[in-house]
Amino acid sequence: MVTNVSQTAAVESSAAQGRERWGSRLAFVLAAAGSAVGLGNIWKFPYITGEYGGGAFVVTYLACIALIGVPILMAEVMIGRRGGNGPVGSLMRLAITERRSPLWAIAGWSGMLGSFIILSFYSVIAGWAVSYVVAAASGSFAGADADAIGAVFSGLLASPGTLIGWHTLFMAMTVAVVARGVRAGLERAVTVLMPALFVLLLVLVGYAMTTDEFSHGVTFLFAADFSQLSTEAVLAALGHAFFTLSLGMGIMIAYGSHLRRDTSIAGTAVTIAVMDTVVALLAGLAIFPVVFANGLTPGAGPGLIFQTLPLAFGNMPGGLVFGTLFFVLLTVAAWTSTISLLEPTVEWLEEQHGIRRFTAAIGAGTAIWALGLVSALSFNLWSEISLFGKGLFDLLDFLTANIMLPLTGLLVALFAGWGLSRRASADELGDGTLHAAWHFVIRFVTPAAVLIVFVYNLL
Ligand code: PHE
Repeated sequence: MVTNVSQTAAVESSAAQGRERWGSRLAFVLAAAGSAVGLGNIWKFPYITGEYGGGAFVVTYLACIALIGVPILMAEVMIGRRGGNGPVGSLMRLAITERRSPLWAIAGWSGMLGSFIILSFYSVIAGWAVSYVVAAASGSFAGADADAIGAVFSGLLASPGTLIGWHTLFMAMTVAVVARGVRAGLERAVTVLMPALFVLLLVLVGYAMTTDEFSHGVTFLFAADFSQLSTEAVLAALGHAFFTLSLGMGIMIAYGSHLRRDTSIAGTAVTIAVMDTVVALLAGLAIFPVVFANGLTPGAGPGLIFQTLPLAFGNMPGGLVFGTLFFVLLTVAAWTSTISLLEPTVEWLEEQHGIRRFTAAIGAGTAIWALGLVSALSFNLWSEISLFGKGLFDLLDFLTANIMLPLTGLLVALFAGWGLSRRASADELGDGTLHAAWHFVIRFVTPAAVLIVFVYNLL
């Protein structure tokens, strides 16, 4: 990955060409929030909160978002806007202009690799959402009890052909958008779909309020008993803060590279983080009361929303329509995320190898699809295979969310705080108190927090 002459030239020429820009600040916020809000908020946050015991985990997670997530989000957007390229190219270019070691580009590489692996299993899970659109619309959940719904879910996981079919469809949908360029399709879609998702979540929270167990759900989510908090839970909270904000993968570098100079990085970063957090908390409020009201266990794992929400929809008035719509929106939320996951690899192929976007999207998409087969099979034919005590899907998830993303985030923080000159970051954020505070946090607080959690976990 050492820069050679032609790579350097490619970096400089692509940066010089001038880059496609987001149409407006709102467009960037919605696209970035579209990346951030996804399965992580609606599927993963509730189930890991359930597994790690609720309130104390949630508080830890919120602290990770504010203290570590937002400063790194700002750092990534800044590196992207200043670097004017995808993650690898931006870091390489900034390392050169700041006279630092080209080895900093490692952060771009590891981010890109992370997005590659995550997309492979994310697409499989997104495929579950699509299959539930069909199941909900065809009335499979109407009046069903927890057992019947559990059977639908285990039937889906047991069938490699079905899982691979939906995974293939989802990758094709992702490639179709990325191959054309994200701006026209994505900008327009997120403007409509993000508010719609929000409204639907509110409807579902409203439904949860009608169950007897709403207050139990609220207590579970917000009453923090720190004596119950395991080290593993702290690591998971940190990993999830990265995952849910789409950090440590170079995505916000790629998206930031299309941002106009007059947009405030701090303001947009906070807006994105708040939107993302609100969606996650609403999802928890919609889901846990239903879990408790139906005697299900909050620590049910990855199947949680695929078994609890259908139960709610199957038994509420208008559930057929709302249930179908919910899974449509879950699909779309996942879609705006998968698009962003494919983007770093595609930008790298385009910029560093001169491959046309269309070809790059198809090539990268096919490779990622193939890796996704591992996750699809880990739920059935390969369910016996385990490495380091984890099944293959869990292993890929753990490796990326808990190890690769925080490590990449650490490198990004170090580069933004120590590699990039103070003048450069002040130029991006505006010189003043805000910049001074951010600079202190990104230099000391963020790296220390990430490191402590890491070392603690190793011991
Ligand atoms: N942030 C997304 C979510 O919460 C997942 C994601 C991770 C998307 C990384 C893009 C990049 O679902």
